[in-house]
Amino acid sequence: MSYSTLLAEPARFRDTVTRFFAEGGRGLNVTVPFKQEAFEFADSCSPQATLAGAVNTLMMDDSGMLYGHNTDGVGLVRDLVQNLGQSLREKSILVLGAGGATRGILQPLLEQKPNNILIANRTPAKAEELAAIFSALGPVQACGFDGVPEQAFDWVINATAASLHGELPAVTTAILGSQSCCYDLMYAAQPTAFLRWAKDNGAALVADGLGMLVEQAAESFNLWRGVRPRTMEVMQELRNVLKS
Ligand code: ATR
Repeated sequence: MSYSTLLAEPARFRDTVTRFFAEGGRGLNVTVPFKQEAFEFADSCSPQATLAGAVNTLMMDDSGMLYGHNTDGVGLVRDLVQNLGQSLREKSILVLGAGGATRGILQPLLEQKPNNILIANRTPAKAEELAAIFSALGPVQACGFDGVPEQAFDWVINATAASLHGELPAVTTAILGSQSCCYDLMYAAQPTAFLRWAKDNGAALVADGLGMLVEQAAESFNLWRGVRPRTMEVMQELRNVLKS
């Protein structure tokens, strides 16, 4: 069995997927910038992928039907709950960003029965659009960064692309209290700007998205092979690779 990277040219995503399965491939993970296109290309999608409008896992059944699923949110929740030992039940959650990453995590977060989720985005209209979709599933509100109330949240999850550019979302330290936990969906060899900021301003726990990366992959593997791999060892190994 082999699992490795496959580079698709921007205009050739569908051809690349078709060829992969024609050559006997069992399943694909899909990442930036193709998750939306994978959703459109799939013949059928899981409820999670349909709500997210994005697919990170593709598989093909015996009749050649392409099935799309989204394991990003489950991966995040597994990292928070199983690996970090945290509960989201009745917690206040601030999600920064309203792009594809946020779409993928809202439903699994709501399933954990938090007290409320506030989505804050640089472009408030995009946050409002997501709140309108997901508020049917639980208490979700939306605002711009300047509309975030000056109160400590139990969880602040950075789902913006700001960390990719070494930038910080424009939020104030008023959102952090001594109990606040901060999670960045991004990961890097060094803590992201957001996690450094959170730690410097007294957050109780900070974590990057390496655990989510591994957990979403394990969930995908389970779909393809019917076995859920152990993840702790993989996370350790990846962390070591990142640091070396
Ligand atoms: P992804 O699929 O990774 O979520 P995306 O759909 O392009 O990528 O969304 C990127 C998100 O990061 C958006 O919420 C974007 O805010 P806008 O909707 O206002 O564009 C946010 N983002 C990107 N760079 C940012 C920055 N420097 N500060 C704050 N938010 C940023």
